Amino acid sequence: MLSVLESAPAGQETDTALLEALERGDFSRSTLRSGLLARGETQEQIFALARKLRDEHFPTCEVEARSVIEISNVCMQGCHYCSMAKGSGIKRYVMKHEAVVEMADFLYERGRRVLLMQSGENQAKAWVDAVARTVSEIKQRHPDFEIILCLGNMSEEQYAQLKKAGGDRYILKFESSVKRLYEMWKPTDTVEERLNCLKLLVDVGFKVGSGNMVGMPGQTVDDIVDDLLLMGEYDLTMNSCTVFIPGEACGYRDEPIGDVDFAFNAMALMRIMNPDRLMPTTSCLEKCRPSGQYIGLMAGANTITIHDGTPENFKKMFPIYSTNRFTPDNSHLLNAVAKANMTVSTHPLQ
Ligand code: 5AD
Repeated sequence: MLSVLESAPAGQETDTALLEALERGDFSRSTLRSGLLARGETQEQIFALARKLRDEHFPTCEVEARSVIEISNVCMQGCHYCSMAKGSGIKRYVMKHEAVVEMADFLYERGRRVLLMQSGENQAKAWVDAVARTVSEIKQRHPDFEIILCLGNMSEEQYAQLKKAGGDRYILKFESSVKRLYEMWKPTDTVEERLNCLKLLVDVGFKVGSGNMVGMPGQTVDDIVDDLLLMGEYDLTMNSCTVFIPGEACGYRDEPIGDVDFAFNAMALMRIMNPDRLMPTTSCLEKCRPSGQYIGLMAGANTITIHDGTPENFKKMFPIYSTNRFTPDNSHLLNAVAKANMTVSTHPLQ
């Protein structure tokens, strides 16, 4: 199946009407559509507006650095874009409680104060109990370690359990706000269920992050406009956007890679629409274009994930979008941050 994203006109002159609309907060569908399609000068100007708003809301010009520990790749969902989907044939692992706690100690001692714990989606009681126990132990040892969980859909009781254990934030991407696409890409889930989970997370008191994927099979520019509008309807503290990468082991492995400019533009628009939220510059941007993560910062991002928490032997077994996933090292990211005239904060920005 072909992506139906339109190709954008090249070498436009600055679209002043579009920039004025964005500056005065006119987020009509046609403005957002033009924003997504902008290239050349206009795109640069949209990024500049995104940076201006980010720096007004985050005047220290810091990028929040978080370490990730990919605690398990067991997943009950069958998403076509993901190489960890149930039945993808990859070898499964679950990190032991002691190993996660030890890794958290190590990261904390090195100065990190934000920790992302990520896994495939698994609602089994034994798994959720185990994560809650690990979170609680890490919090007991390091009360000021900000813990972000990214574990997928769960029940209200399970979210409440994880919150009570000490989780501070939760990332649950809605991926697409469009029912037709969501259910095509994620046939084992429904968009209603996903959005209900998002609401439950806000209700149980997490600081919640969400976002979409662009450049996906069947997705149009108008579908991305819908995603941008949906983000404003939830009380979120973080937004994000990734660009589709056809991983070797996923159902969509033969589909074309997404157009990264749509991701940069979606990020800049997210920043302009909700300027006080955190936003990551993700490694898949780098996979699509050299200096992609630097460009993400220039489009308004202000968080980075450092892949220094997953043991080497498990890293290859967490192929979200590729077994050759680009897992940036510290120095590469530090360079990108410095080049963007920002500094790295090991402390939480919210
Ligand atoms: N390409 C880009 N992003 C992807 N994600 C998952 N698979 C892919 C892919 N093939 C994103 C999804 C998910 C997050 C962990 O990574 O948005 O929520």
